[in-house]
Amino acid sequence: MPEAERMPSVIDPTKPNAARVYNYMLGGKDNYEVDQLVAHRMLAVAPDTRTLAWFCRQFLLDSVRLAAEAGVRQFLDIGAGIPISPNVHEVAQQVDASVRVVSIDYDPVVYAHGNALLAGVPGVFPMLGDIRRPMDFIERLRTEATIDFDQPVAILIVGVLHYVMDDEHPAEIIRVLRDVLAPGSYLAFTHASDNTQADFIERSSSDTVGSSAQVRYRSPATVAAFLDGLEMVGPGLAPVQEWLGDDLPSTRVVILGGVGRKR
Ligand SMILES: C[S@@+](CC[C@H](N)C(=O)[O-])C[C@H]1O[C@@H](n2cnc3c(N)ncnc32)[C@H](O)[C@@H]1O
Repeated sequence: MPEAERMPSVIDPTKPNAARVYNYMLGGKDNYEVDQLVAHRMLAVAPDTRTLAWFCRQFLLDSVRLAAEAGVRQFLDIGAGIPISPNVHEVAQQVDASVRVVSIDYDPVVYAHGNALLAGVPGVFPMLGDIRRPMDFIERLRTEATIDFDQPVAILIVGVLHYVMDDEHPAEIIRVLRDVLAPGSYLAFTHASDNTQADFIERSSSDTVGSSAQVRYRSPATVAAFLDGLEMVGPGLAPVQEWLGDDLPSTRVVILGGVGRKR
């Protein structure tokens, strides 16, 4: 499937949109009936997916705090989604008000919401960009958002890389992003695991094949290889629940989370 076809286009309330479905799962209001229907089809197979969405969101915010407390003052939130509070800048700016966050997404729906909801928020820059073309936005980050890659940066790729198919070279994308980072930078990352319950994989695959919401479930070994060369912190690559605390329930859909530090 050509890359251009696996790309959300104009705002269309009659077609489901991955960012709006996720917004609905998190209890947000920026979604349409068509998105809610897709979410309910997922919830019918795996009712705990809403809880999982919150675990993933908490993983994101905890890793932001971790990087900010380690001294990082620049954050790139790639595949940022529709803004929902608490958001990345709110957590990071609690640690230091000077933190700057660039919210990157390839979806014009997300960009429009970002501009509407984050306009005028100090230190926050919504930007259109496609993770499959990192070189296209790295230069714009330098010039338009004054990101200084000689200083530590935290890159957040949470709930995004599983939308990148094998022929779009996910390992190469991570390598390009990792190579541009200065020592002391962080990469916080989640990815859907193929340990997910088989009927959910079947349902979500048949509902989304060829669309921008299509997910490539990968094995933990494949996902771990994406983070090669980074010093893993915390529990390493593990289901997001393990990052958040003891005794959290496992879920039918398994999302792996990891935070790596560049030496
Ligand atoms: C499940 S949401 C995750 C949102 C946010 N990162 C979070 O964890 O709350 C996935 C987001 O990734 C975005 N996305 C998917 N493929 C992308 C790509 N190739 N480039 C940039 N963003 C992408 C979608 O538009 C959507 O907003």
